[in-house]
Amino acid sequence: MKAGEKLDVLVGLGNGYNLENSGNKPLLIGGGVGVPPLYNLCKKLRAEGKEVSVILGFNSKLEVFYKEEFEKLGASVFVTTVDGSEGVKGFVTNALDNIDYTYFYTCGPEPMLKAVYNATKTGGEFSFEERMGCGFGACMGCSCKTKYGNKRICKDGPVLLKEEIIW
Ligand code: FES
Repeated sequence: MKAGEKLDVLVGLGNGYNLENSGNKPLLIGGGVGVPPLYNLCKKLRAEGKEVSVILGFNSKLEVFYKEEFEKLGASVFVTTVDGSEGVKGFVTNALDNIDYTYFYTCGPEPMLKAVYNATKTGGEFSFEERMGCGFGACMGCSCKTKYGNKRICKDGPVLLKEEIIW
C-alpha cells in the first residue's frame, strides 16, 4: 500500500501473550508467518531485562527473515531449516535441546504447534489460527474444545495456555 491509503479494519480483538508468565529466560518459537507476531513480544521482554532466546523455523535459507532484527534486540537467535541450508537442519523442535528456558511463547502452523507442545518441558502459550466468520465472538465459527470448555479463537484466543489445549 502507499502512505495515506485508507484501510477498513477491526483491530484490538481477542487476547495476547501474557508477559507475566515468562520467568527470567523466555523462549520464543516462530515458524514462517508465525515469526512476525513474536517480534514485539521479544521487544517487550527485552525491555523488562529478560534473557530471551528465539527459534525461527523455515523451509530453507531463502525464506529466512527477521533473524537480524531479533539479534538487534539482544536475543539469542537459533534458525532451523527443513533442508538444512541454514542453521540447524530440521524443525524448530530440533533446536530445543541446548536452550535453557523458563517458559515459551509460540506462533506458527498447527503441525508445528503440536510438535512444540510435545517437545517442550515447561508451560507455554500458543497462538492459534482458525477460519473466522465474524471475528468478534458472535458466530461461534471459530470455536474449539479446550480442557476448560469451548473457546472462540477470535475472542477468547488466539492465545491458549499449554495446560488447556486438547489436540
Ligand atoms: S469468528 Fe465468529 S465467533 Fe469467532
